[in-house]
Amino acid sequence: MADLVPVLKRNEIDNIVAGLAEKISVDYQGKELICIGILKGSFIFLSDLIRHLKIPVKIDFLGVSSYGLDSSSSGKISYTKELDIDIKNKHILIVEDIVDSGLSLTNILDLLKEQEPLSIKTCTLIDKSERREVEVNVDYAGHSVKEGFLVGYGLDYAEEYRNLDSIFHLKI
Ligand code: IMP
Ligand code: MG
Repeated sequence: MADLVPVLKRNEIDNIVAGLAEKISVDYQGKELICIGILKGSFIFLSDLIRHLKIPVKIDFLGVSSYGLDSSSSGKISYTKELDIDIKNKHILIVEDIVDSGLSLTNILDLLKEQEPLSIKTCTLIDKSERREVEVNVDYAGHSVKEGFLVGYGLDYAEEYRNLDSIFHLKI
């Protein structure tokens, strides 16, 4: 029987997301921003984040799937959806749910840099920085955790728990 231990409450998430949006709004003032949500985990975070932004923004999604249903990343990912918008010469912000080893985000950055955006930055709701295996630049990080597998608010374990309203540590 899986055990769910609360990590971030609803109001804590709201404050974190509003704080990130505030910084992003200042940094991209007067620029044309495209936010790219990494599916599927970021869909709830992205939808809340963009509604807090005080600047115009365009949205696109990149579908990414890690191989297997394991709780740690293999680093091997497959792309399940390409971008619809042409990002050449555009400012883009990659929006992730969680960065753990950093392997997925590194792979995504390499892919999108080939499409020659004007600038590329990264934003993640959760940063598991102590488990990083490859150095990857996270420009906007909402909340840092040391370890543990988190679910809820878009984050899944084997496709379950995405619908939970707040974030929990899943203990199996
Ligand atoms: P990384 O490649 O190890 O940085 O892992 C990144 C991806 O693995 C994230 O985008 C998530 O989809 C997934 N992931 C890593 N840690 C967690 C977690 O604690 N809960 C849910 N998904 C996770
Ligand atoms: Mg993900």
